[in-house]
Amino acid sequence: MSSTPTPDAPTPDALKTELITAIGSAGDLAALEEVRVAALGKKGRVTTLMKALGQLDPETRKARGAELNQVKDEVAAALEARRGVLQDQALAARLAAEQIDITLPPRPETTGRLHPISQTIDELTAIFAEMGYVVAEGPDIEGDFYNFTALNMPPEHPARQMHDTFYLPDAPDGSQRVLRTHTSPVQVRTMLSQAPPIRIIAPGRTYRSDYDMTHTPMFHQVEGLVVDETTHMGHLKGCLIELCRAFFDVDDLPVRFRPSFFPFTEPSAEVDIGCKRGGGELKLGNYGDWLEILGCGMVHPKVLEMCGVDPTRYQGFAFGMGIERIAMLKYGIPDLRTFFEADLRWLRHYGFVPLDMPSMAQGLTW
Ligand code: DAH
Repeated sequence: MSSTPTPDAPTPDALKTELITAIGSAGDLAALEEVRVAALGKKGRVTTLMKALGQLDPETRKARGAELNQVKDEVAAALEARRGVLQDQALAARLAAEQIDITLPPRPETTGRLHPISQTIDELTAIFAEMGYVVAEGPDIEGDFYNFTALNMPPEHPARQMHDTFYLPDAPDGSQRVLRTHTSPVQVRTMLSQAPPIRIIAPGRTYRSDYDMTHTPMFHQVEGLVVDETTHMGHLKGCLIELCRAFFDVDDLPVRFRPSFFPFTEPSAEVDIGCKRGGGELKLGNYGDWLEILGCGMVHPKVLEMCGVDPTRYQGFAFGMGIERIAMLKYGIPDLRTFFEADLRWLRHYGFVPLDMPSMAQGLTW
């Protein structure tokens, strides 16, 4: 049974159609909310009609009430459905507006290059990390004790003369300070601060008062130190042969250990690699000629003792080498001084792409 409409109000059916059309054409969530308030809000049209039910006679009220309830339910459902659609549209629009194209290539101006020294340190670190070494560091301004005395070079030792040391004003406690002449003091600091087993490399800046084609007052070295209860000269040889072959990427590179002397190692050796010279060129490999590249030896018991390590229980090896020198050899850089002239053309030519980190798995260089 259908109720009689009042002349100025639409039938519930017509009202429903009108509201559902309005809902369908609400263009955004705010417009939809207006439609909702106008229909189902406290003074909304459906609400007003429902409030008026009380004035009807019971029979009519029942029928009309049921009708209005259905209108209300259908309008509410339509509102809900439309809200879902509009929310999805709003999200899609926002995602489109906030989109970042991460596939863009790097801007052409990001053409910075890594200095060959940084690259070489990264390569050495990759090689030694594979062998279980960690990187250690020490200060550039050193105490005389760390740079010399603890390395078995007491104050009057002649080896001190060979270092062309830059001396600095004394420390407040009266002790002598120097710019470190080698990275070996990092050995001392490491042994004094941690118990064996020790397996470190220490790359860093070093200083000597010297300047010509093959010497600059600041240069770089890498130091290595292994201390435990069993390491012997055979391990030293194996480690350094592996280092040379991996770094220069020549599988059968001949490596020769020649007896030598350093105050801080006993026995001591210098290491040569195979090469040939001629026509202003140097080529590494099995060609019969030799080129010296590093110093090494078994850590002197006196050094262990001065660094608080018991020499009757512990032993190990150490080595040190110039980073510029091996970089020049590997990358064919003829003049050491150019490393520190900050010439961008040089850096563009000899530098490396920053994000290509060397690793033993991927290869050291590109
Ligand atoms: N410290 C030496 C130098 O500056 C290099 C060196 C040689 C370091 C032998 C060592 C080593 O640890 O065992 O010339």
